[in-house]
Amino acid sequence: GKVGVLYGGKSGEREVSLMSGKAVHEALKSKGIDAHLFDTGTHTVAELEKEKFDRVFIALHGIYGEDGCMQGLLEELQVPYTGSGVMASAIAMDKIMTKRLWLAEGLPTPRYTELKANTDFNEVVAKLGLPLIVKPACEGSTLGLTRVTDASQMKEAYELAATHDQSVLAEEFIEGMELTCAVLERDGKPEALPMIRIIAPGANYDYQNKYFSDETKYLCPCGLDAELEKSIQQYVVQSYRALGCRGWGRVDVMLRSTDNKPFLLELNSSPGMTGHSLVPMAAKQAGLDYADLCVTLLAAATL
Ligand code: DAL
Ligand code: MG
Repeated sequence: GKVGVLYGGKSGEREVSLMSGKAVHEALKSKGIDAHLFDTGTHTVAELEKEKFDRVFIALHGIYGEDGCMQGLLEELQVPYTGSGVMASAIAMDKIMTKRLWLAEGLPTPRYTELKANTDFNEVVAKLGLPLIVKPACEGSTLGLTRVTDASQMKEAYELAATHDQSVLAEEFIEGMELTCAVLERDGKPEALPMIRIIAPGANYDYQNKYFSDETKYLCPCGLDAELEKSIQQYVVQSYRALGCRGWGRVDVMLRSTDNKPFLLELNSSPGMTGHSLVPMAAKQAGLDYADLCVTLLAAATL
């Protein structure tokens, strides 16, 4: 049938999605699939409906693409799509809602406070300590994020985050190893892929170092003790189930250096598929090349 690769979109991560979508499209075509790129940021819903796709691969990131909006539209149009459904997508997009659910399940995530313009920032600093992270609740790729090292930076950090989303949080900074773990469902069973350790220049895994730097190092296998890796992977699968995700996802994790305790940061329900992206690296380590990964995800597309 005719496959649509939805990409681009209207979020702050549009540029990332353009890279993801192009790569997915090429991979699907290399497998003989009748795949077509469709930019949801420059086309109307009516145009999407007119394409009469039999199924779609969602290579969109951020709001309107990863947050349940597009998923809801596709439900309405009755077009099967890759990845999580409406509710899980909406929850995973929101870092505060995600934490609430994880905490309810007893899963470890850094302490946080929701910030408002009238919040007493000094109180927040006293509670969470320094450094701390200020970020928008619904954004990706570290856009709008500040690592605050002095209380005087709080107002500016809040204002920057608030330009991305009205909901903003401050989060305890976990000093340690930066890790990520992909989850892939095969035969309806979510499985953690090998974890990846990220070593970014200056320990700053920001937008530039995510997508453009050749200095960011990725270790997969991650080099952790096998037992420790396995215990983190179990948390990751639990955290994926807690949000009700489907198809695939990627959970970002900090491993605290003082005691090797893992902290779950967030779940990306439509992870990057660019040349620098992480899920393809983990899949490769598990014996699944990029094109096979795309085919596997597409085959699991559902309503
Ligand atoms: N938000 C980006 C696309 C990622 O998590 O890969
Ligand atoms: Mg993210």
